Amino acid sequence: MSGHGSPIPMISHRAAGLQGIAEVPGDKSISHRALILGALAVGETAITGLLEGQDVLDTASAMRAFGAEVGRDDDGTWRVHGVGVGGFAEPEQVIDCGNSGTGVRLIMGAMATSPITATFTGDASLNKRPMARITDPLALFGAQAVGRAGGRLPMTITGAADPVPVRYTVPVPSAQVKSAVLLAGLNAPGQTVVIEEEATRDHTERMLAGFGAEITTEETGEGRVITLTGQPELEPQSIVVPRDPSSAAFPVCAALITEGSDVLVPNIGLNPTRAGLFTTLREMGADLSYENEREEGGEPVADLRARFSPDMKGIEVPPARAASMIDEYPVLSVVAAFAQGATVMRGVKELRVKESDRIEAMATGLRANGVSVEDGPDWWIVEGRGAGGVPGGAICASHLDHRIAMSFLVMGMATNKPVSVDDGGPIATSFPIFEALMGGLGADIRRG
Ligand code: S3P
Repeated sequence: MSGHGSPIPMISHRAAGLQGIAEVPGDKSISHRALILGALAVGETAITGLLEGQDVLDTASAMRAFGAEVGRDDDGTWRVHGVGVGGFAEPEQVIDCGNSGTGVRLIMGAMATSPITATFTGDASLNKRPMARITDPLALFGAQAVGRAGGRLPMTITGAADPVPVRYTVPVPSAQVKSAVLLAGLNAPGQTVVIEEEATRDHTERMLAGFGAEITTEETGEGRVITLTGQPELEPQSIVVPRDPSSAAFPVCAALITEGSDVLVPNIGLNPTRAGLFTTLREMGADLSYENEREEGGEPVADLRARFSPDMKGIEVPPARAASMIDEYPVLSVVAAFAQGATVMRGVKELRVKESDRIEAMATGLRANGVSVEDGPDWWIVEGRGAGGVPGGAICASHLDHRIAMSFLVMGMATNKPVSVDDGGPIATSFPIFEALMGGLGADIRRG
């Protein structure tokens, strides 16, 4: 949905202490992939725990536009009747992916090797984001793209009628690019090979294997080499979506900085390609434990327990860890403001091309709330003020970015004066129950 409603200003007042159990919604990355692969299988895929955030709902609508049947039972189970690899129909209308880079980029990949044409658009944030990183490799398969200047949406893609398999080294650490190439490779004959120098989230590879595709990953001197054999018949699956570690980050970080807090966040997927934030917080001295560690559906899972941690220290976050916590830097920068000493974050150029320029958005809001931040093209440093030491009191711009809005609302739970965001509306893209869940733990977030 590109039509974003009127802004929803929100204000977060200091909380007396957060207590209780935080049941965060399903994983956004896995939810998109479950719908798309379900649409490419032959028969009915059932999905439980799907994230019902706007980003994922937009992907569900898109799958219908390409010919899949997508429905939801009253008990919350989603059912996708897939059309098979190569079976996408040409959509009659423009595909509107709203705020979702993952949605649009994965769907472009999935349709790029079918002889159909589709036009994609999104909201003001998505229409600013770079798409050449996707259309460049899709052109190697034989797909053609015409978009706005700089490879921006709206954009029309005509899929390759006679696709050829490709061998592609991903030039930026991006699971979206890797996944778009793999999804395009599904309908190309022969083997498509994707090479990534830095490991990024591997949900597409895991799920493709689950649907019966022939896919291998090899660690070599040039990086991870992923080989997919094209034109499989994907078998429908029953998918249980684990809870999202990127959403868990908000109650966890809120508890660490808010005096008197003790919060349990159950059933969080700790796939190593996603769990970098929690490792970093523990290195900073956070009182964050993994309870009940287990395996579910081939993924490591644990209950996270976070308690107020007044003695956290700033650290240098290893750049090699960036991909495994790329969406968590905004909320990490909030925790860093309450630690002692500097937190140094390098090798994070990708933060500048997310739903917003996340370094700019966070640095500006942190400074307005009394925190010193230095930044450069691919780095930033937050000077911690220690527990209880952050003044607050400012209104922050969320720039149509859910994670910026949630990060500043978390900050307000522990600042001396309340922190406001100009628009909390985008939170609904990934974490529609954020206000209710945080309120249930004892946060004081008000609208208006
Ligand atoms: C995602 C990949 C990441 C991440 C995004 C979700 C995915 O983007 O920031 O929120 O599901 O593949 P990049 O691929 O651009 O790093």
